[in-house]
Amino acid sequence: MSDYSIRLYVDSDYEVTRNLFRNGIIEHHNKAFHHALQRPHIWLPALVVLTLPALNLVSVTTSILVVLTAVAAIWFYCRYMYTSYVDYALSDDMLDISKYYLQRDGFCFWVAETRGGEVVGTIAALPSSDPGGEKHLELKRLSVATKHRGKGIAKVLCRTLIDFARRRGCEAVVLSTSLAQINATKMYEKLGFRQTHSFYPPGLLGQFLDFKIIAYRYDIPAL
Ligand SMILES: CC(C)(COP(=O)(O)OP(=O)(O)OC[C@H]1O[C@@H](n2cnc3c(N)ncnc32)[C@H](O)[C@@H]1OP(=O)(O)O)[C@@H](O)C(=O)NCCC(=O)NCCS
Repeated sequence: MSDYSIRLYVDSDYEVTRNLFRNGIIEHHNKAFHHALQRPHIWLPALVVLTLPALNLVSVTTSILVVLTAVAAIWFYCRYMYTSYVDYALSDDMLDISKYYLQRDGFCFWVAETRGGEVVGTIAALPSSDPGGEKHLELKRLSVATKHRGKGIAKVLCRTLIDFARRRGCEAVVLSTSLAQINATKMYEKLGFRQTHSFYPPGLLGQFLDFKIIAYRYDIPAL
């Protein structure tokens, strides 16, 4: 990690920061897709449909078409969940990062930079809007460029944010992430975050495909 440093976001980081966020989120849609396909209530009916031609109930073509259509619909749903989230964020807090994160009390945005000046990681902090979360800081927009992963950059970014929260007198850092973001969930747990609850996005499809969102909390130890 000595090859990297953490600093506050500046406007010249705009494009690279938005790309890091976009790529870090979109990459998970295939994991969410594979997770959904492994649910017995998904693959069992598919198996049944594929056996129907053997019983002369439908043609082979029909049965394959039905299964392929269902599989494609699941893939598109998983992709949509991540792309719609990215589109929303890029037109919301990530539209004018300086204005949103650096000009308001309790908000902040950091980047990780290589010695050569390349921005390879990001993290954002904002006051939690959860009811009862007045003394909680929310962690958002954590992303590290693929070829710089596994070098401790995310851990240092998280610790920077936790220090910021501590200095502001916060009691906890909170965040939510999707079940498919396995590297992230492992990292949060290693850092001492604990799962508080999980939930599904609105609509029955998310529940059906087990598109779970997990909420984490890190209690800041009193000094
Ligand atoms: C999650 C992410 C930020 C981790 O970044 P990173 O810089 O590679 O993480 P670190 O090197 O600091 O690793 C921290 C810990 O995470 C865990 N971890 C990270 N990648 C892992 C992997 N592929 N497998 C298992 N554990 C992993 C390890 O416990 C690691 O600690 P260790 O090295 O002491 O064992 C990165 O994978 C990423 O950008 N993912 C895409 C975006 C994303 O999911 N962001 C989270 C939004 S909520």
